[in-house]
Amino acid sequence: MKVLGIETSCDETAASVVDEGGVRSDVVYTQTVHTPYLGVVPELASRAHAEKLPAVVRAALERAGIERPDAVAVTAGPGLIGAVLVGLSFAKSLALGWGVPLVAVNHLEGHLLSPLLEPDAPAFPFLGLVVSGGHTSLYLARDVGDYETLAQTVDDAAGEAYDKVARVLGLGYPGGPIIDRMAANGDPTAVDFPRPRARGLDWSFSGLKTAVRTHVTGDDPAAPDDIAASFQQAVVDVLEDRVLRAADQTGVRRVALSGGVAANAQLRRRFTELEAIRAALPARSRCTDNGAMIAHAGRLRLLRGQRDPLSVTARPGWAL
Ligand code: KG4
Ligand code: ZN
Repeated sequence: MKVLGIETSCDETAASVVDEGGVRSDVVYTQTVHTPYLGVVPELASRAHAEKLPAVVRAALERAGIERPDAVAVTAGPGLIGAVLVGLSFAKSLALGWGVPLVAVNHLEGHLLSPLLEPDAPAFPFLGLVVSGGHTSLYLARDVGDYETLAQTVDDAAGEAYDKVARVLGLGYPGGPIIDRMAANGDPTAVDFPRPRARGLDWSFSGLKTAVRTHVTGDDPAAPDDIAASFQQAVVDVLEDRVLRAADQTGVRRVALSGGVAANAQLRRRFTELEAIRAALPARSRCTDNGAMIAHAGRLRLLRGQRDPLSVTARPGWAL
């Protein structure tokens, strides 16, 4: 079954075709209109999706060598409501016109299951760490659709912390890749930023962001590369701490990372080195938003018999 996946929940306009052999095409247009604003402007995102999506979908079909897929999978949430609606409406019209099934996919499930697209795919059950700009959650994934939330952030997401710290340091957007590069030249022990704790296994990142701001505006701030490396070390430490504790609590030692922050070099290195767990990492380009993860999650649901009616609505706050 060849599935077209469409993703428009934030600032990537993406489409991909996935079948039993894997990813046949994967087209991602990262919107550039937001750059001057140092963050995503929802109305501009919706407009850019409306403008680019038809060409992105056409390119995905052409590269896959097909004229129409056997089904359409589309992100229905969580995300920016206007942005989601552009993709969802387009997907509905395609499914109706082609006379093929439609399946609405939760964006977080797309990330969570994206490591299954890799050659060294984890088998169920596994721990899924989803670290993106909007979410930081740890799930126990028992099967497709059977997920237990073990931990989440009580305030900022990890990627959001990267983006906010980048703003404090006067860098561009998105902050994650920039801080990642700077940290490679910095000393992670230069500044002893806090490793904040929340209840149970939960995370809290807003105090860390505030600590960076206080340091930067203080009397004798460290060099920017050292601040970046020290901040990043604190993020990696708290992510690692909760994952290791969850592995001990559940006895599940296979850990799949996903979401934009899973592209981070230090995080990838650290999780690969840990002996207590076995980490599965999607290719870096598959960590940030893409259509392949939506096509893949949708395909797994379609194979289990799921279909959604054309009346399915956008769910901006859809919890997994
Ligand atoms: O998954 P994603 O593309 O979109 C959401 O669903 O949120 O994640 C985007 C987030 C941004 O906050 C960005 O700064 C962060 O992922 N990010 C990174 C890196 N690449 C992207 N954070 C740390 N290191 C990176 N290399
Ligand atoms: Zn995402």
